[in-house]
Amino acid sequence: MNENIHTEFKRMLGRDSKEAQTGQKGHVFWMYGLSGSGKSTLADRLERSLVERNRFVKLLDGDNVRSALNGDLGFSDVDRKENIRRIAEVAKLFVEAGFIVITSFICPKIENRLLAESIIGTGDISKVYIEASYKTCSERDVKGLYAKAKSGDIKQFTGKDSDFESPLSEDSDWIINTENSTIDTCVENLLNKILPMTERKH
Ligand code: ADX
Repeated sequence: MNENIHTEFKRMLGRDSKEAQTGQKGHVFWMYGLSGSGKSTLADRLERSLVERNRFVKLLDGDNVRSALNGDLGFSDVDRKENIRRIAEVAKLFVEAGFIVITSFICPKIENRLLAESIIGTGDISKVYIEASYKTCSERDVKGLYAKAKSGDIKQFTGKDSDFESPLSEDSDWIINTENSTIDTCVENLLNKILPMTERKH
């Protein structure tokens, strides 16, 4: 860090005061998986369900963040890592403000998922793998990107010429499979975990 930067973290109002105001425990639900696996749909449905229950939530979604804050980044390994680093820092700011954060990014590398965890703090993040095979995602092809990857119009496409690394261990990450269950079931499963975890204990 620059020697002329003097942080003021200690003097600032703490997280506990913010959580007393929001009436919940801040936490990041870090959803990752292939493009078209259902991340954005699930994230959107979850955000709505939580807001209906008067929870304070911020959704951070790949295409939106890449259109503004991370508009300068592409899809090389270096840029994807910087993408994740910035998102993790932003997510942390929201957690400190007493928010539930739902992130929805491909985040294909284990190393970068661990980086996010180290920035946010192990107790404040749950990593959620949204599982669907490349074949299923390319059949869904909601954005038409799989067709473009096939014809070579998109380079460094995740799952084709850029690697997607599945979770290291099923114990450390939750797995939500969108091929075998309906969206409703997936949302319900996630809500059943998220609601108790974000309740503020008095
Ligand atoms: S990440 O790999 O850096 O985590 P991120 O989630 O931010 O990716 O962005 C993925 C979104 O960018 C996809 O949903 C898709 O719409 C778009 N996109 C554009 N080019 C690519 C590419 N080469 N690989 C994957 N996604 C791409």
